[in-house]
Amino acid sequence: MLRRLLLKAAGNERIKDAALAVPLTRGVVARFVAGETTEDALDTCRLLSAEGLLVTVDHLGEDTTDRGHAEQVTAAYLELLAAIRAEGLGPSVEVSVKLSAIGQLLPGDGETVALEKARSISAAARNAGTTVTVDMEDHTTTDSTLSIVEELRKDFPSTGAVLQSYLRRTEADCERLAGSGSRIRLCKGAYAEPDEVAFSGADIDLAYVRCLKVLMQGQGYPMVATHDPRLVAIALDLASRNHRAPDSWELQMLHGIRPDEQRRLVAAGHQVRVYLPYGTDWYGYLVRRMAEKPSNLALFLKGLTSR
Ligand code: FDA
Repeated sequence: MLRRLLLKAAGNERIKDAALAVPLTRGVVARFVAGETTEDALDTCRLLSAEGLLVTVDHLGEDTTDRGHAEQVTAAYLELLAAIRAEGLGPSVEVSVKLSAIGQLLPGDGETVALEKARSISAAARNAGTTVTVDMEDHTTTDSTLSIVEELRKDFPSTGAVLQSYLRRTEADCERLAGSGSRIRLCKGAYAEPDEVAFSGADIDLAYVRCLKVLMQGQGYPMVATHDPRLVAIALDLASRNHRAPDSWELQMLHGIRPDEQRRLVAAGHQVRVYLPYGTDWYGYLVRRMAEKPSNLALFLKGLTSR
């Protein structure tokens, strides 16, 4: 119930405007978000890289409704990737992109706009010696997002896609996309979805395990995105049963969530990538983190009231 309410609030423009008026550096926001600027993101990348963690950087923002904003988000990625290139961070720092932030939902030619912008970001990533993973948003965008990833992979074969185990369709998508050269990030899914398209409760975890089996047995590069200790243990077991070399798959977690576990896994010889958001438009991202763990909401409210 609280999860659904919070996820509804994630799309509410009035609540969003009020929340964005709060400076970024406080409490729970600072725990999950690197900061507002490219330099803030790079500072955190350097720290994480020095600890042996891989990183995927996300410029915060989603659901762009004007072309100018899609341009600005693209420019921010190009600036970030130029800096990644200048510092030689390339192989271990990649970027994650939400297509709705670069125009996918614009009326008329939104998909074409998003594809064109994703191409220029992918070209900059390639120049920086790295790659792009395309985030997955709510189920109404899944087909469009997967078809844009398919287009991108023709020129940029290492482009990654995200699949969400809560969607009933995802096991079949895993079967279809687990082929050689594919990079698939498997997560549970973070949006409010209707029962017709999505599982709930323990069925999401069971589906996650089924999907993981397909990806681990497949020829691609599985990216296991979860903080769930049981699923991490199952991933380690499946990797071993499928004789996967340590560099043929990776674990992924969000910045600020189970940081000690991230470091423990690195020390144990596993590849771990941290999803690192930065930018001013943190509202939707943060509300989804609260929906996952309501105690984050209490932390956030405490931060707001102790100004
Ligand atoms: P679950 O929510 O069951 O949590 C398991 C445990 O992890 C909890 O008991 C708690 O200890 C800890 N935990 C989880 N969330 C926490 C939080 N917010 N705060 C504090 N502790 C927390 N989703 C999506 O729809 N599209 C996408 O593109 C992505 N991309 C993505 C990338 C990466 C690298 C990750 C790790 C996750 C995503 N997600 C996502 C989010 C994902 O779908 C999911 O909502 C979260 O990862 C939470 O699910 P868990 O698998 O961690 O399990």
